[in-house]
This record gives sequence, structure tokens and C-alpha cells, in this order.
Amino acid sequence: MLKIKNLWKKYKKEFVLKDINLNLQKNSSLALVGESGAGKTTLSRLILGIDTPTKGNIHIDKNSISVVFQDYRNSVNPLFTIIEILKEPFWLRKTTFSNEKLEDLLKTFNLSKSLLDKYPHELSGGQLQRVCILRAILTKPSFLILDEAFSALDVSTKSQVVTYIKSLKKEQNLTIFLITHDLEVATSLCENIKILFKGEVIESLKTNCLGQAQNQYTKLLIDSIIPLKIKETNE
Ligand SMILES: Nc1ncnc2c1ncn2[C@@H]1O[C@H](COP(=O)(O)OP(=O)(O)OP(=O)(O)O)[C@@H](O)[C@H]1O
Ligand SMILES: [Mg+2]
Repeated sequence: MLKIKNLWKKYKKEFVLKDINLNLQKNSSLALVGESGAGKTTLSRLILGIDTPTKGNIHIDKNSISVVFQDYRNSVNPLFTIIEILKEPFWLRKTTFSNEKLEDLLKTFNLSKSLLDKYPHELSGGQLQRVCILRAILTKPSFLILDEAFSALDVSTKSQVVTYIKSLKKEQNLTIFLITHDLEVATSLCENIKILFKGEVIESLKTNCLGQAQNQYTKLLIDSIIPLKIKETNE
């Protein structure tokens, strides 16, 4: 589905991505985790062909990809109502918009039906971000790229949306590439994790083997979520 080989990206004189290699098989899920400025969005832009690599190759199966952009506010047409925003991918693909599931999905996403006739500037950040996630999944993609897609959501809404995406993963054989600084969401949604630090992948791990982390930075990240996990299991 996605294969990246020896990928480098330079802006001006500085390399912001250094020798990135990854292989994302169909029906699998990978999280790219890293701090702000690590190069995550740059990588997603290269994958989507919005920007070009300095060196290296990207092979992607471009059939049926959906993306939730980190900059979600600029990813919607401000002159469209929310229902038009949700319908736009169907218009572009010249397919029929089916709204039979929309009402249920709005409930799952904690969005009121009355928002459908509003404009993006009338929604809160978290509401608009959920609209963007909804838009991405309504077309039933086979490959979903999520760049900090839950950043504006409160804890309980985030958990509801993540649980729903997990169910889609099973039912629709969805391949997921999650880009986040949030290791907790990464472990909850993805089977595989790569840690990006200053443009370099410093560790690749299976989510169920986090204890095998070797790198000091990865260990610090893992330690930061362990108290939360312990709290969850005690409840
Ligand atoms: N168009 C550009 N021109 C010059 N430098 C850029 C450009 N886009 C990104 N950068 C630089 O590349 C580095 C990586 O940026 P990127 O947006 O990929 O980080 P990120 O990991 O997505 O961070 P965040 O978690 O804050 O979204 C940063 O140092 C940034 O300043
Ligand atoms: Mg980013």
C-alpha cells in the first residue's frame, strides 16, 4: 500500500527527513510518533505528492485514499455548509452521496444534526475536526492518513472517535497511517509504531512489545503514558 525507500528531504540547507524507510502493508496500521518539528507533516506531504523528496522513492497505491490534515480549518471550503463539505468528495468522484448512515455517524461523533446547515466558521475547532474525520471516512476509503486528527478533541470524544475508527479497521479492512505526537492514541489505534526524532526514525516497534524499546527517548515517551495505563486498569 505504501513503500518508502531511503527518503530524504531538505529545506534550504537543512535536512528535515533523513533516510526514511517504511513499508505499510494492506490492512495494517502504522503510527509515526514524534515531537513538534520532527518532520511528520513533511513526510505526509511527500506521501501525498504535495511536495517532492530531495532523494529517495515513495510508492503508494493511490486508490481510495482519504486524509485528515493537521491544518483542518484550511482543508475545508469556507463558502460551503457542513453538509456540502461532507458531500464534496462524492461530487469530485462523481458518485452518489448516501446519507443513510449519516445520522448514526453524527451521533457517534457527538455532532448535532443542526450543524449540517452551518458554515465552518460557525463551528468550534473540535466540531470542525470531527467533520473532517467524518468526511474522510464517509467515502469508505481503503487507506486513511490521519495527521494529528484528534488534536482538538476532548478526551471522551477522542476515545469515542478512535473506537469507531478501530471498528472500521476491522469491518472495512482499512489501512491506517497515523501521524501524531500522542503515543497513547498511537498504541490504541495502531499495531506498529515508528518514533521520529529530528527527521530520523530512531525506533520501530510493535505496539504489543513497547517494553522492548532500546532508545532512551522512546523509553521516556513510553514512561509518560504508563501511569495513565495503570490508572485505566485500576478503574
Ligand atoms: N515549507 C517549508 N519550508 C521550510 N521549512 C519547513 C517547511 N515545512 C516544514 N519545515 C520545517 O521542517 C521541520 C519539520 O516540520 P513538520 O511540519 O514536518 O513537523 P511536524 O513533526 O509535523 O511538527 P508538528 O507536530 O508541530 O506538526 C520543521 O523544522 C519546520 O520548520
Ligand atoms: Mg505536523
